[in-house]
Amino acid sequence: MCMRNVILLVLLTVAFAAAHAQGLGVPVDAASIDDITVFPDGAGLPPGQGNVVDGEALYQTHCLACHGVNGQNGGNDRLAGGKLPAAPAIGSYWPYATTLFDYVRRAMPYPSPGILSDQETYSVVAYLLHLNGLLDAHAVLDAQRLAGIRMPNRDNFVSTYPLPH
Ligand code: HEC
Repeated sequence: MCMRNVILLVLLTVAFAAAHAQGLGVPVDAASIDDITVFPDGAGLPPGQGNVVDGEALYQTHCLACHGVNGQNGGNDRLAGGKLPAAPAIGSYWPYATTLFDYVRRAMPYPSPGILSDQETYSVVAYLLHLNGLLDAHAVLDAQRLAGIRMPNRDNFVSTYPLPH
């Protein structure tokens, strides 16, 4: 081990010991990790359901300011109405509807991710799919229905996920 690595190791050990001595950090065990991953085949989707009508109201409150009326012409990403390659949107680009649930629950609304319940996430996702012509205006969305939606652009992706599609 060269001198620089020895010094680094000593510094890391001292830093770790100092943090430990001050009671910083909390040990994490597997049971306390909340796994919110939803896989392309729908594995991991929670129970419950939402609908397009509720989703529209939630969208107005939590999403409209950044993504615009009907998911278009907002200050941030276009969510509907786009065509590849110039203006990708959910309907024209995303290969799976299931991972849209994962993304919205995990990352949106941008300033306060995690505030939507599973039910509300189903509703917002239903509304987004409706804006993209993939659900009708009165549709109800649950895990089974979401996993059954075939996104129009799916075949243009090269899949590394080991399920047939
Ligand atoms: C304060 C602004 C803001 C709000 C509010 C907001 N978003 Fe976003 N959204 C963003 C930004 C910025 C990105 C791009 C993030 C990135 O690329 O890392 C994004 C990206 C997205 C994307 C991915 C688009 C794509 O195809 O790449 C989706 C879907 C989305 N938002 C949905 C929502 C939904 C649903 C809500 C409301 C529940 C919401 N957003 C609220 C700013 C916002």
